[in-house]
Amino acid sequence: MSSSHCIVIGLFCAVLLGGSLSHGQLTPTFYNETCPDVLSIVRGVIEEALQTDGRIGASLIRLHFHDCFVNGCDGSLLLNNTATIESEKDALLNNNSVRGFGVVDDIKTALESACPGIVSCADLLAVAAEESVSLAGGPSWGVLLGRRDGTTANRTLADLALPSASDSLDTLMSKFSDMGLNTTDLVALSDSQVKFMRSLSNDGEKNNNGNGTGLADLDPTTPDAFDNNYFSNLQVHKGLLQSDQELFSTDGPDTVYIVNSFSGDQSAFFASFVESMIKMGNIGPLTGVEGEIRLNCGRVNEDVSGSDALLHSYI
Ligand code: HEM
Ligand SMILES: *[C@@H]1O[C@H](CO)[C@@H](O)[C@H](O)[C@H]1NC(C)=O
Ligand SMILES: *[C@@H]1O[C@H](CO)[C@@H](O)[C@H](O)[C@H]1NC(C)=O
Ligand SMILES: *[C@@H]1O[C@H](CO)[C@@H](O)[C@H](O)[C@H]1NC(C)=O
Ligand SMILES: *[C@@H]1O[C@H](CO)[C@@H](O)[C@H](O)[C@H]1NC(C)=O
Ligand SMILES: *[C@@H]1O[C@H](CO)[C@@H](O)[C@H](O)[C@H]1NC(C)=O
Ligand SMILES: *[C@@H]1O[C@H](CO)[C@@H](O)[C@H](O)[C@H]1NC(C)=O
Repeated sequence: MSSSHCIVIGLFCAVLLGGSLSHGQLTPTFYNETCPDVLSIVRGVIEEALQTDGRIGASLIRLHFHDCFVNGCDGSLLLNNTATIESEKDALLNNNSVRGFGVVDDIKTALESACPGIVSCADLLAVAAEESVSLAGGPSWGVLLGRRDGTTANRTLADLALPSASDSLDTLMSKFSDMGLNTTDLVALSDSQVKFMRSLSNDGEKNNNGNGTGLADLDPTTPDAFDNNYFSNLQVHKGLLQSDQELFSTDGPDTVYIVNSFSGDQSAFFASFVESMIKMGNIGPLTGVEGEIRLNCGRVNEDVSGSDALLHSYI
């Protein structure tokens, strides 16, 4: 719909969509002119939230992951139930498990106040993930930006596509491969959750019961827990989830090799992690005039008709 309008008033559109946008590519400088402080705004709200919720960084990175694995990084996970939307929040692996939506709304409010109608909820999640990793002592990187928000959600797809803690290594590899992610990406990204889980408990080994429920201990301790210890723990079979231990099972010689290399070299791990996060953030983004810039991350924009609709799609 927006694209056909674009053809009608081609010149106008060419101006608006000039440069990298017209090729649908994400770029770290996307908001340089329109919302130059986007990173520090997001970071500020997360820092504030961390004061009372030491787990929020972990929850935000997981939201980006669960968003990207279902129909691409389009903010679909954030949409609430309506007559036409079956929220992905209610998918088997999300219900009562993914969290942080209040802080997402707080970030969105801050962004809307600084640069109204500019920053998508999908980009918000990508930036929040990077800033959370950075605040936890992990690497920072130039997040690619320019995603737009989808107008649909798909709970059924979320049930099928999200990796489960009880998946076999083959299933995990195939779910990642479906997203264009390879085995190195699987190993590098799997670390992030465990890093965050460990940073949340006073003693990650003892407090965690092996089923991922050690998260119940929310005592925020040192945030500088983003390192490569996870891989050393896998080597001595102290993976926190079944799926983590799968990465080091004798059935997975490919992953054993990668685990060993990350375990011995934190900077190699950081470099791989960043590369894989960027790859994950590139899964099926909407760009250009696709989708919309949602004004409230929990719902699609009001259906406006007439000439306003045309303008609306460019905000
Ligand atoms: C490889 C397949 C994966 C499986 C099977 C898996 C499974 C899980 C499970 C079962 C939990 C605990 C949820 C709960 O207690 O409610 C969890 C938490 C988490 N996962 Fe994953 N995960 C995977 C990959 C990833 C990836 C790729 C990322 C990030 C890039 C990630 C980030 C996280 C984070 C940060 C948490 C903690 C969330 C919080 O505290 O709110 N996971 N994951
Ligand atoms: C965008 O802003 C960043 C940070 O201020 C700067 O390093 C970069 O050169 C800018 N890029 C463009 C294309 O303006
Ligand atoms: C999600 O969890 C709530 C509370 O446990 C439950 O009432 C609801 O039925 C669950 N939703 C789905 C779709 O399973
Ligand atoms: C949701 O995903 C499922 C599984 O891929 C697919 O069969 C279905 O058509 C999708 N529904 C919508 C509304 O796109
Ligand atoms: C994990 O959960 C299973 C099934 O609920 C339970 O049998 C097992 O003892 C738990 N593992 C640990 C280490 O507590
Ligand atoms: C997997 O992808 C990474 C980039 O994320 C690349 O560097 C690596 O060579 C790939 N590995 C394999 C086995 O294809
Ligand atoms: C969507 O649901 C979340 C809870 O998951 C709630 O905090 C938020 O206010 C809701 N947003 C809208 C627009 O209804």
